[in-house]
Amino acid sequence: MRDFRWECRTKVRFGQGCVSEYLPQLVKEYALPGRNVMIGYGGGSIKRNGAYDDVISVLESLGYSREGNAAEGNLIVEFPGIMSNPTLSRMKEGAELASMMDVGLIIGIGGGSVMDCCKAIAVQAGYEGDAWEDFWMQGKPMTHQVIPCGVVVTMPATGSEVNGCAVLTNEETRIKCDRDYPEMNPLFALMDPLYTLTMPLRQLRAGTFDILSHIMETYFSYPLEENPADDVAEGLMKGLVRDFRAAIADPEDIQARSNIMWTASLAENRIIKTGKTLDFQAHNMEHQLSAYTDCNHGEGLAVLHPAYYRHIYKDGLPKFVRFAERVWDLCRDDYESDEELASAGIDALQAFIKEAGLPTTLRDIGFGADEEKLLPEIAESCFISQGAFRPLTVDEILEIYRECW
Ligand code: NZQ
Ligand code: ZN
Repeated sequence: MRDFRWECRTKVRFGQGCVSEYLPQLVKEYALPGRNVMIGYGGGSIKRNGAYDDVISVLESLGYSREGNAAEGNLIVEFPGIMSNPTLSRMKEGAELASMMDVGLIIGIGGGSVMDCCKAIAVQAGYEGDAWEDFWMQGKPMTHQVIPCGVVVTMPATGSEVNGCAVLTNEETRIKCDRDYPEMNPLFALMDPLYTLTMPLRQLRAGTFDILSHIMETYFSYPLEENPADDVAEGLMKGLVRDFRAAIADPEDIQARSNIMWTASLAENRIIKTGKTLDFQAHNMEHQLSAYTDCNHGEGLAVLHPAYYRHIYKDGLPKFVRFAERVWDLCRDDYESDEELASAGIDALQAFIKEAGLPTTLRDIGFGADEEKLLPEIAESCFISQGAFRPLTVDEILEIYRECW
């Protein structure tokens, strides 16, 4: 196992009714005194699942209101319309609003896109420079005062609620870039599984595959030897496959929903990353597909993963053998070689993707002739992971895209 630093400052409050129970105290603890509170959200799903009403009612009980007085610091500032795959320009609009309205607490209510955008707004609004350039592009140390930010999760997928990562798309340069700073970890995350019941099945599938992808991208990286992070990852993957099946069979299964929601956080609170090099090459390839076409993150990953793993499994063979045996319960005796067993593990993953009703080709996720022409340019624009079993070349990325066609 390699040396590591681990921290996760986010206070998690999980369970039905957690917003009403815990948000009052958290606002008192973290809102900067005499300043207004901003709520950021997306296209309106939070008005259907109850999260919006719950948050507003807590804020009103604390003396804030939508008709409040900005100068007196008791206004609820609303920032709706955060889109999936949030853009840099939308983030900047939010940051301008937060600065103009003297916001002293930002609460993001929604899925990963909303949480990421709000975390980034908290960074940019308290910063005199260009946050995208300094932090996302150059990775400079973050030493300024970030505005306090907490989240209310309505869709399990990214784990953004418990990490310092925020992914933004610069529409001008067509770069989708993630950055993880401890200073961007939300101060609190409220997770009520009841909010997730309104998710369309398509989002449930895509989000759950994103969780599996986060675990695999971490697991399939060095070291190859047995280590506690991979032991935990195997348990999470087995449990997630079980809960995914249960939630698809019965979308009202609150136990399965709850398990999936917490698994999303456990996959991304950095515990399973301890001592690991981390791959995330499938994410890098998906992020650029999304930067060019705005495709759905989890669906893009479902298409890419099996093809990517067929390219690299021989470079990390012992880990692919463990995956086949411990996650998919395949038996060594049934195969003639480790390579055959490892390959069968990837087949099992591919079969599970089909069984779950996820897309398996780029055409399935809306790519047509125009997008096909763009593939060389998209491949060229991908970040190459240095934590992978073997860093890919641009030619190989293009090959993988074509295999996914
Ligand atoms: O906009 P609204 O109306 O809220 O609808 C959203 C959106 O259309 C909807 N939704 C969310 N909760 C719902 C719901 N619909 C009904 N009922 C609910 N309870 O779901 C749609 C998708 O939401 P979005 O937030 O875009 O999905 P996701 O959570 O998958 O986030 C995707 C973004 O996160 C980034 C992705 O690249 C992408 O930009 N990622 C962030 C990461 C991180 N911060 O650690 C890591 C990930 O790997 C990922 O890259
Ligand atoms: Zn992801």
